[in-house]
Amino acid sequence: MAREVMEHLAVDKGIYVDATVGGGDHSAEILRNLRQGMLIAIDRDEEAIAFVRERLKGQSCRRAGVSSLLVHGNFADLDSIANTVPEIRQGVSGILFDLGLSRHQAVTPERGFSYQSDGPLDMRADRSTQKHTARDVVRHSSEAELARIIRDYGEERFHRRISRRIALVRSRLHTTGDLAEAVRSVVPFRFQAKAVARVFQAFRIAVNDELENLRCGLRQAIGLLAEGGRIVVLAYHSLEDRIVKQTFRDFANVGRIEILTRRPLRPSPAEVAVNPSARSARLRAATTLKSRLQAQAGAA
Ligand SMILES: C[S@@+](CC[C@H](N)C(=O)[O-])C[C@H]1O[C@@H](n2cnc3c(N)ncnc32)[C@H](O)[C@@H]1O
Repeated sequence: MAREVMEHLAVDKGIYVDATVGGGDHSAEILRNLRQGMLIAIDRDEEAIAFVRERLKGQSCRRAGVSSLLVHGNFADLDSIANTVPEIRQGVSGILFDLGLSRHQAVTPERGFSYQSDGPLDMRADRSTQKHTARDVVRHSSEAELARIIRDYGEERFHRRISRRIALVRSRLHTTGDLAEAVRSVVPFRFQAKAVARVFQAFRIAVNDELENLRCGLRQAIGLLAEGGRIVVLAYHSLEDRIVKQTFRDFANVGRIEILTRRPLRPSPAEVAVNPSARSARLRAATTLKSRLQAQAGAA
């Protein structure tokens, strides 16, 4: 949904933040459209930062008045990141969150996110600072805790039997293939593919604390926006989208933002045909309004 993202970010002059730089496609597009200012591109994954550093080399330097900064960090720490980048304190003109996994993470077996190919049960977005892998969660959580993770983060109806199975064979679960097989072994054939996908989603969310990070990141992002600044979020499952919707509502109810997308935008069938992984994308966008106090002061 690159076109819709760029339309809603309305990149012109100012400070823009790509909170999830990934492979750098959106960042490259922001830089291309930026007339004057700075792009701050963040990712939790050091491999993404290293890749994009090479990719963007020279792209901003070629134009006077345009610069970029790559930050290895968690968007849940946006306020701390802002403290180290004085430009952010001037007010951010646009901020983008493109949630979920990058293509590189999804297709690299050693990262342990994929159930299509066998790899270690890892799933850490940030291997340099996170200690606990998916294997640790599988090994050290009680059966009840496993059931809660699979129910709450995977919305999987067979959560009880799957957690029972995982608890029973946990010492033999070393790889993503082992975990997928444990799930398949207790789920009727026609539900297996979805159940495996949901269980992997659940462990990924648990390992990376994704939902709490999103709650914190969105609130801090809105706090950093300049008046008229834009926030654009691409979510890929209903748990993420619910948080985005609720956070936007909370800020809209106190007059802090105006929601630009009454309903989330979805990719066109043509886009899904070309890029099937976009099929679950939901885009929501908002713009900041003057705070009530500022508006009253202005009116007085
Ligand atoms: C879908 S990809 C982004 C793709 C990117 N928009 C592009 O154009 O290539 C999501 C990225 O967000 C990163 N990410 C996920 N949670 C994060 C967090 N809490 N803080 C910073 N980055 C995060 C992931 O590491 C991943 O690289």
